[in-house]
Amino acid sequence: MSENTDSPAAQTAGNPVTPGSQASFGTYRRQPVSFVRRGTRLQGRRQAAWDQHADAFVIDVPRHVADTSVHPDYVFDAAAEFGREAPLVVEIGSGLGEAVVAAAEANPEKDFLAVEVYRPGLANTLLRIAQRGLTNVRVAQANAPEVLGSMLPAGSVAELWVFFPDPWHKAKHHKRRMVKDSFAEIAARALAPGGLWRLATDWSSYAQQMRDVVAASPDFRNAHDGERSGPASPLTAAWASGVDCEATGESDEVGGWAPRFEGRVLTSFENKALSAGRVIFDLTAERL
Ligand SMILES: C[S@@+](CC[C@H](N)C(=O)[O-])C[C@H]1O[C@@H](n2cnc3c(N)ncnc32)[C@H](O)[C@@H]1O
Repeated sequence: MSENTDSPAAQTAGNPVTPGSQASFGTYRRQPVSFVRRGTRLQGRRQAAWDQHADAFVIDVPRHVADTSVHPDYVFDAAAEFGREAPLVVEIGSGLGEAVVAAAEANPEKDFLAVEVYRPGLANTLLRIAQRGLTNVRVAQANAPEVLGSMLPAGSVAELWVFFPDPWHKAKHHKRRMVKDSFAEIAARALAPGGLWRLATDWSSYAQQMRDVVAASPDFRNAHDGERSGPASPLTAAWASGVDCEATGESDEVGGWAPRFEGRVLTSFENKALSAGRVIFDLTAERL
């Protein structure tokens, strides 16, 4: 992708992010953002964790117009931040930090950036980082499309993880889903050639949307194209179970699903989904 007046940063300049509230969701580049503003106030252990560890682990992101908005001129310098050159793994919507912190502990040779808008979740992530004494994780409180579109240098990311993004399961809210064609463009911008974009969801309609987004992108190939179709497809299983009431077929003949990514630990979020009998979908796309 070329960096020109169509670049996300250029488009952001005259098109500010609105902070939003519980009632108004906010917009970014004239599209609704993928999150609702939730409480940002910290209490107790979380406030203490923030006070104690923010200086060491929270990226000081220059803001644009809102407290989760990234100034379009700001570029993250991973080598300066971590004091070394290492593969960079970015997790979008890292929640409580369970996956990113476990992965950072298991892979000390890689650096990790957790991107999340929910401050209490980031405070939990700080607690986990500190408990394990890790030096290879940083967190950014920021709207993901701005991180991928301008904050990260083009081609600087080895792996991009989007696990269980908010499903926005009502049809009238589908436009708020993070994983869509425009997101694939900025994911492709951030990833290095050969880099991996890993996705997971427990919503069958979102899983199909993700699969379609990967298939439609000229910048990615599905690393498991055609695999796990028919009876082996999690989509066939989800349709048979009727668990998310989105039964639109009987057998998924397309496939394309990845095996469960072994580097993805079971988060409390996924655990709840499994307890509710939901089917989990994994996808892996390779940056061409
Ligand atoms: C359903 S939770 C899943 C959390 C975690 N990945 C897990 O599996 O436990 C989705 C997370 O994405 C975050 N999120 C939604 N939109 C975002 C955005 N535009 N930028 C950064 N984080 C976002 C939400 O705040 C929420 O914590």
